[in-house]
Amino acid sequence: MKIIEVESYEKLSLLAADMIASQVLFKPDCVLGLATGSSPLGTYENLASRCGEGRLDFSRVRTVNLDEYCGLTAENPQSYRYFMDQNLFGRVNIDPANTHLPDGSASDMEAECARYESLVESLGWPDLQLLGIGHNGHIGFNEPAEDFPARVHTVQLAESTIKANSRLFDRVEDVPTMAVTMGIGTIMKARRVLLIAGADKREIVERAFHGPVTPQVPGSILQLHPDATVIFTRS
Ligand code: GLP
Repeated sequence: MKIIEVESYEKLSLLAADMIASQVLFKPDCVLGLATGSSPLGTYENLASRCGEGRLDFSRVRTVNLDEYCGLTAENPQSYRYFMDQNLFGRVNIDPANTHLPDGSASDMEAECARYESLVESLGWPDLQLLGIGHNGHIGFNEPAEDFPARVHTVQLAESTIKANSRLFDRVEDVPTMAVTMGIGTIMKARRVLLIAGADKREIVERAFHGPVTPQVPGSILQLHPDATVIFTRS
């Protein structure tokens, strides 16, 4: 795995956008695996600017997002679908029909998990998967566990994740306690993986990428991915 340290969040965002833009340039109909959270905001900003200036073309790109909260509809401003529409899809020339997220409001979540795994497979798995990392090492919403989950599944969020994500909700009680996420197996099928981590993730970057590979630190599995890049900053 390649670990790149940069001096600022701006540099991190620029470098991540460069990698995604070159993927799109190299394969205009590529499948991008995308992530939500604060970490990719600068990357999405960069991609939107490049697209606005006519330097990048998303017209044939397909996207699959990692995860979604259970119980929130696409119209809910806290949903990851809403986040993606606001921060990327609505700002680039992508065909909305080519953007995919799990449906957290599906009435049969088991069927939804199977549908989403098949969908990602039918697209041929991501050419490039963008990831952030939680303070407890989660990727997507794969929380520390006894095993690495293989496929798309629902998950009970860890207390620490609910607390960390409550900054984006009015009250901690409003944070959904369940989510649907690509499994570790799903994520590992991406041809390339790019994880970005800001200064607040120093400790977990050390544990995940310089420590043992263990499902207690789900992101540590990326040490075994044949083409994984981590870009992080300490400041
Ligand atoms: C969330 C998301 C993850 C994200 C992580 C880190 O819970 N499910 O996909 O990578 O937390 O988020 P942030 O970048 O806001 O720290």
